[in-house]
Amino acid sequence: MAFYDNLDTVMKHFIKKGGFLTAKAGEQVNTMTISWGFVGFVWGRPHFICFVRPQRHTYGIIERADSFTVSVPLGDMENELEICGTKSGRDTDKSQVVRFIPAKSVESPVVEGCGRYFECRINYKDVFDGEALPDFIKTANYKDDFHHMYFGEIVEAY
Ligand SMILES: Cc1cc2nc3c(=O)[nH]c(=O)nc-3n(C[C@H](O)[C@H](O)[C@H](O)COP(=O)(O)O)c2cc1C
Repeated sequence: MAFYDNLDTVMKHFIKKGGFLTAKAGEQVNTMTISWGFVGFVWGRPHFICFVRPQRHTYGIIERADSFTVSVPLGDMENELEICGTKSGRDTDKSQVVRFIPAKSVESPVVEGCGRYFECRINYKDVFDGEALPDFIKTANYKDDFHHMYFGEIVEAY
């Protein structure tokens, strides 16, 4: 399957209901709900770009990881999305909320039961520069907790 197949439907679900961003570093694995992200093309390669605030438990893991996965439910996983988007892996074992299963090509697992998967190898990361953001975006979104962004090359889409 090409990474862009049926992308309109996938992104509609992702933006409206969310997807699971999962990262593994060493023995630590965690997932959290995200709904901000881009699927696109850069350096001649397909990428998923996701955005993670530094206070997330996932941040400490993805910073040490070389991959992440995005699992987008196309059916009903609203309860799991709600829990993984409101509880932190610091005090909730999310492997009791969703079932992690091995990915095909990267170390970070995927979440069982989702309709679309992106397995991504991290090629680049950066953090938003607050000075470069317009005030209306800073005021609406930030108190010095600028998102870190991760450019993950999509090595598997299915
Ligand atoms: C629908 C939805 C979308 C979200 N999107 C993002 C996002 O794109 N980036 C982010 O940093 N947090 C996002 N969050 C918040 C995290 O999912 C939430 O803070 C979560 O509890 C973090 O889990 P963790 O501490 O285990 O990493 C979203 C939450 C919801 C409910």
